Amino acid sequence: MQRITITIDDDLLETIDKISEQRGYASRSETLRDLVRDAVTREQAAVSSETKCYATLTYVYEHETRDLSRRLTTTQHYHHDLSVSTLHVHVDGRDCLEVSVLKGTVGEIKSFADSVVTQRGVRFGNLHLIPSEHGPHDHGPHSHD
Ligand code: NI
Repeated sequence: MQRITITIDDDLLETIDKISEQRGYASRSETLRDLVRDAVTREQAAVSSETKCYATLTYVYEHETRDLSRRLTTTQHYHHDLSVSTLHVHVDGRDCLEVSVLKGTVGEIKSFADSVVTQRGVRFGNLHLIPSEHGPHDHGPHSHD
């Protein structure tokens, strides 16, 4: 690990401290490392649509919106090769929350995510890409440091 000194706007630092407090980080350094790591991950994911990755897709939908449950299930079945697992939570009388764990290339996963979150009645769609150096199935000996 290395120590660096950065210059930062007062406003931005205030925002970072708020995030740090809200999310319960132990220090500014820990907060900044995570924010930078997120940004780097997004940057790398944008490099190539061929990059292999894992991803989580989160969204909320109204299960009574006409045909929506069925259409979402059809979409999931159509892309069954990308789908690792889906968690379904009945949030209240109206809303369902789903978290899908996906694996595939960045391009395939973005396209799948778009086909889900653009459906009418789907809200709070959020895709989190986690690029995999090795590829999902190329899993040799490694450490988890
Ligand atoms: Ni439900």
